[in-house]
Amino acid sequence: MSDAFRVEELDGKIALVTFDLPDKKVNTLGQAVLRELAALVTGLARRTDLRGLLFQSGKPGQFIAGADLNDLAMLAYINAEQAAGALGAGHQIFNGIGALPFPTVALIDGNCMGGGTELALAMDDRIASSASHTQIALPEVKVGLIPGWGGTQRLPRLVGLNPAIEIITTGEPVPAQKAAAIGLVFDAVPVERLVEEGKRRIEYLQQSGEWKTRREELRRPLGLDQDQMTFAFAVAEGLVKSKTREQYPAPLAALRAIREGCNLSLEEGLKAEQKAVGEIVGSPILGNLIAIFFMKNRLSRDAGVEDASIKPRAIGSVGVLGSGLMGAGIATAHARSGIRTAMVDVDDERLKDGLQRASEVVMSRIKIGRATPQDMANMLAMLNTSTSHSVFADADIVIEAITENEAAKKEAYAQLARVMKDDAILASNTSTISITRMAESWRQPERFVGMHFFNPVDRMELVEVIRGEKTSDETVATVVALAKRIRKTPIVVKDCAGFLVNRVLFPYMNEALVLLEQGVPMEAIDRASVKFGMPMGPLTLTDLVGLATSVYAGKVIHAAYPDRSVGSSILVDMLEAGGGGKSALKFYNTKGKGSKPEPNPAVVEIIGRHQQGPKSEMGEAQITDRLFLPMLLEATRVLEEGIVREPGDVDMGLILGIGFPPFKGGILRWADTVGAAALVEKLAKYADLGKRYEPTERLKRLAKDGGTFYPRPKIGLAS
Ligand code: NAI
Repeated sequence: MSDAFRVEELDGKIALVTFDLPDKKVNTLGQAVLRELAALVTGLARRTDLRGLLFQSGKPGQFIAGADLNDLAMLAYINAEQAAGALGAGHQIFNGIGALPFPTVALIDGNCMGGGTELALAMDDRIASSASHTQIALPEVKVGLIPGWGGTQRLPRLVGLNPAIEIITTGEPVPAQKAAAIGLVFDAVPVERLVEEGKRRIEYLQQSGEWKTRREELRRPLGLDQDQMTFAFAVAEGLVKSKTREQYPAPLAALRAIREGCNLSLEEGLKAEQKAVGEIVGSPILGNLIAIFFMKNRLSRDAGVEDASIKPRAIGSVGVLGSGLMGAGIATAHARSGIRTAMVDVDDERLKDGLQRASEVVMSRIKIGRATPQDMANMLAMLNTSTSHSVFADADIVIEAITENEAAKKEAYAQLARVMKDDAILASNTSTISITRMAESWRQPERFVGMHFFNPVDRMELVEVIRGEKTSDETVATVVALAKRIRKTPIVVKDCAGFLVNRVLFPYMNEALVLLEQGVPMEAIDRASVKFGMPMGPLTLTDLVGLATSVYAGKVIHAAYPDRSVGSSILVDMLEAGGGGKSALKFYNTKGKGSKPEPNPAVVEIIGRHQQGPKSEMGEAQITDRLFLPMLLEATRVLEEGIVREPGDVDMGLILGIGFPPFKGGILRWADTVGAAALVEKLAKYADLGKRYEPTERLKRLAKDGGTFYPRPKIGLAS
């Protein structure tokens, strides 16, 4: 008997196979499991006495998480032929399941991902539990892959072309009810009825003989005519290209697999899929996306402190001081996660606005089907508002998100000290003020910490957890655990001006202003950045962040790193010209929704006044160097100074915090791709620009030794 699978026989000669990988929280389909499954299927193929087979997971609320991560990682370093070999075992098993001499039904409760979904698709039918944790997905494109165990062929034959294209090219999960509606599963039933319903389904399939006809049907070509094919794929390709800006090859490869295979027999279709897999394995983009997946995984397990004996304190209730843009977002995130939250501001008017913003977050999710009116009711029930600090009396932590003014914050802390529990933690969402300094004004500096959320809080996953010099391990571990509880990704950083993300972002933002002064048009600067893969250019980002914030943050960073900062007063002049507030000038004017942003003539005029020399004809490659090299150098300094614990922290911080292009794997991984020696050579061209283009010691060392920021992967097959 195998380790991972248990087989029992139910009444009526039905086998119940339970997949329960020993000592693991989730079931994955690694090589050893596949070998066991192969042996099991071979044995079952001889059991002509059985009337059917039910397949379930022994992990409550977790069906199958997909292929084994290490096997996935290997795909980044092998060629097409090796990939075909690596996927071969899975194919044989799934084909074997499809040929068993009795009907088979998968009983899906919980996450059913990737290879798990492909396994379920190889069975004659599927029944899902109606629980909200049941989600079925083929998320391969999210890590730069495509389904390689038949998903691109079996799914379109089962649910039809368009739903299959959507599921495969977006990688988004399908909840149980929707899966039932589109025919991905036969039905969604309460979890305790799964086995009973499975037995009934087997009986029906047996008595009607439908299992045999369904097998025949699902092996045939889809039979679409030329017009249907042309239309469906033209639309899908357009959508995918605009969404991925053609920077991510996997969704297009998946689409090719579907297009080339759907009008063939299943057997031929599987070959089309294999060909498409071969086209993407071994690519640097795949390597980068898989690396991100691993880095994220590491962060999700990271306790935030080295000492494993440190345990986070339990957090029963949370206080949020300030109900502005950030405060309301932070309070909503906690209340939505079922944590009792009290939000305080100076008057009812502002609290009303804050509550309104909180409702809008959930409302926007209801509109897209990601939340229900019940979720709204639950969130509101968890969120208490008040103008009195007394509601913080039982809070285990208070997160301060009031106006960015050190004196005002310190004054507020003095008031909080009077009501908060002796051992409660105080966290600040400040973006620029030193955590170490502010901690000194708190009664216990060890219970003071930075918890820097990003705007908009409901969409930005990153939380920088900033340790002041005296912040205790227990405090860090507690806020790390809390951030995870509200489904954010925390990254622990040491206190410094700009913390991690703004510090590394700033040289890039600043260089955009220097380029403007050198006569490079604003559209050329933003275009180069977007071409590199950023979601928007640095000047568009300045418009989004707001002038006042940009000027203020700029001053803080200039003061902290004067040796490599060049001042530009373009933003200050824009701020003055616009009179501040809502009427502040922006680099771009947008006439209406959807219309192309145009450079603001008033700003063009201001830039003209700052311009030194004629309009520059600087090429795109040079603009890209000018923007990203200073960013890279700052990233190496952050690493050198031990602000973060490892390169992955910098890269994940930038990917999650500013949308640094995931396909490049982060700035340090990008540097590894280009190579330290090539970077040092590039930097030499800009040596006359001063310190901000001077290679750091770390980079020089790597260039000399041929080293990389990340250790070279050990995985991979010799080719
Ligand atoms: P905001 O101006 O939207 O909200 C501040 C709120 O604090 C206002 O409602 C104000 O009435 C309230 N407030 C001021 N003094 C108070 C006091 N003593 N007691 C209770 N409430 C008080 O400001 P925003 O943008 O929400 O920023 C708040 C904090 O978050 C700042 O420290 C800022 O640096 C930081 N931050 C802001 C980000 C952004 O993009 N806006 C991003 C990350 C951090």
